[in-house]
Formats: sequence, structure tokens, C-alpha cells
Amino acid sequence: MYQPIAWKEDHILLLDQTKLPEQEVYIECRDLETVADAIRRLAVRGAPALGVVAALAVALEARIITGKTRDEFFHELQKLCDRILETRPTAVNMKWALHRVTEKLQSADTAQVKNLKKMLEQEALAIFHEDIEANQKIGIHGREIVPDQATIMTICNTGSLATAGYGTAFGVIRAAAEAGKKVLAVSCETRPLLQGSRLTAWELQKNNIPFVLITDSMAGYYMKKKGADLVIIGADRIAANGDSANKIGSYSLAILAHQHNIPFYVAAPTSTIDPDTQQGDDIPIEERKPEEITHIGNQRIAPDGVAVWNPAFDVVPFAYIAGIITEKGIIKPPYKKNIRKALGENRQETTD
Ligand code: MRU
Repeated sequence: MYQPIAWKEDHILLLDQTKLPEQEVYIECRDLETVADAIRRLAVRGAPALGVVAALAVALEARIITGKTRDEFFHELQKLCDRILETRPTAVNMKWALHRVTEKLQSADTAQVKNLKKMLEQEALAIFHEDIEANQKIGIHGREIVPDQATIMTICNTGSLATAGYGTAFGVIRAAAEAGKKVLAVSCETRPLLQGSRLTAWELQKNNIPFVLITDSMAGYYMKKKGADLVIIGADRIAANGDSANKIGSYSLAILAHQHNIPFYVAAPTSTIDPDTQQGDDIPIEERKPEEITHIGNQRIAPDGVAVWNPAFDVVPFAYIAGIITEKGIIKPPYKKNIRKALGENRQETTD
């Protein structure tokens, strides 16, 4: 099997997702800047994976913080967090993970910088391991809504590659298949960067899960002609009212699913829920460079100089979402109330 993220004590290994499915090569990250560059290039991607690598990268770089006092340490730590956070704005998991490690250190009763550095590493590794457990629980809760024989449509990549392991929406498909259900996954290719055809298809194949690959524009016709039992997507940020930001094309899928009476679910760990963001319109949506649309690889496919709009994500309004599958169970409408309840159980709310 493949391990997309590995902590190697003095460096982090990241499976380079820009090279998949052709090559399985790892990037050896010995400093925060190498991780930041990998995040910007989408060599590592997917909201939960970004949270994990952000925490690991800060733990690695914090080793060379020179500040001797607690205050100096926290001042320099904040600068490291800011450097990682500015790489990609939509996935809230980075903010969540860095907030969690910083809170943990601030509440520690040690003033010794060397102890703080050690604690930082331990907390980053805890986030890493807990994400895999959360995804496995998402799979257990999610497989309950999957009929014994089911066609499940999905978009982007939400598998092991997008998380610390197992996957979210992909994890539900995987868990249903592992439970003996006859699952057919329908993977939308996910223009423009093809996370569906390059990454999800690769993972489905590696896991021997039956699937069919379609272009994004075929989704409606697939629903009409062949039918689907469920659409399950991941999320990059879920607002307090349930509006869910995910890969561009998710909004269209939700509308199509509604039109065809197909239940539409979001699968995500509670670390993807941002109680400080009230609604979808408040979620910052990353816009990426035009070349991702005008080119495929180095090949130009649109005339030089065309105007391009390239938002990496869109937002599915809560009204289209039948449930949010989390490690704590499936959150059902009314979302405002039930999200608050789900977060209240274990998670500290962020206030910044
Ligand atoms: O731009 P990407 O590839 O990082 O976008 C990823 C997605 O939209 C995923 O669906 C989301 O992060 C959930 S991953 C479990």
C-alpha cells in the first residue's frame, strides 16, 4: 500500500501527487518552505492532509527557533504558522490544526523552550494519527446509508491521498465495499487539475473497488440514464449553518442530485467544520492561476491571452445536503443546531 505522508524524525516524506498516476515519487521535506511549496503546487492536497502536514511542518521548523524565552518562542512560532497558512485559504483544517497545537503549548505549564518544541511534535503527530481514526469512524457511520448494492458518485479526491489515511467520502465507499456491499463508484474527473481521474481512479484501482470514470459534464446524463443511489463528496470548510465548500463542480453535482432525487451527502471530520464562519458566502474561495485552464501539462489548449476565471472551490448550500457524515455520527438538519451540538461534545471552539 502507499503512505502519502510519513514523519521521519528529521524530515517529512510527501507522495508527490502532481506526478500520479504515472510515477510514485516522494518529496523529502527538511524545512517548512519545502512543505509550503508542495502545498502551493498541490503535490500534497485535500483538507485533512493539509491540516496534518501544516502541523508537522511547523513542528519540524520550530526546532530551529532561536528564541530563548517562552514569549520569544511563541512570537516565532506564530510567524511559522502564518507562513503555512498563507499557502491555501479555503481548507480550514490548517487553521484548525495550528490553532490546536498553539493552544496546547500555551496551556502547558512549562516555560522551557526545548519542552515546548517536543510537545509541539507530539501534538502534530497526535493530529496525524487521530485523522486516520476519524476517517475510519466516518467510514463506519457512512456505510450505514449505503444500500447493499449501490452506485455512488463522487468528485475530486477524498481518499488516503487527501487525508492522513483511509479517506472521507472515499472512506465511506471503501468501508461499504469492505463490509461486502456491491459498490460501483462513479468518479468525476474533476477539471481542471483532474484529481478524480489522476488520483481517485488510481486509489480505487489500488483498492480493487469497481468504478467508472466520467467527465464532470457527464454527471447529469449519468444520473438520468444509469442512475445513482448516492452522491458523497468531501469538504474543505463547512460553515456553521452547514454550507459546505468543496472542489469546484460540487455545487453543480448537488443541483443535479436534487433534480434526480439522489441523496447528497458530505463526509468530513469535525476538524473541517468552522464554527467561526457563519455561512458559505463568508468562506474564502481560492482562485488559482489561468494556466490550469489554458494548459494541460505544458500543452496550451486555449488561445493565448484569453480571460479566465479559475475558482478552486464552490459552495454547496446546506439545503441540498441530506447529512454530514463525521467521526461523531451523521449530522442531520437543522444544521446550525446540530453542528453546534456535535462540536460541543469534544471540540473547543476557535475564537479568532
Ligand atoms: O484543491 P484540492 O485538491 O486540495 O481540493 C480538495 C477537495 O476539494 C477535497 O474534496 C476536500 O479537500 C476533501 S478531502 C478529504
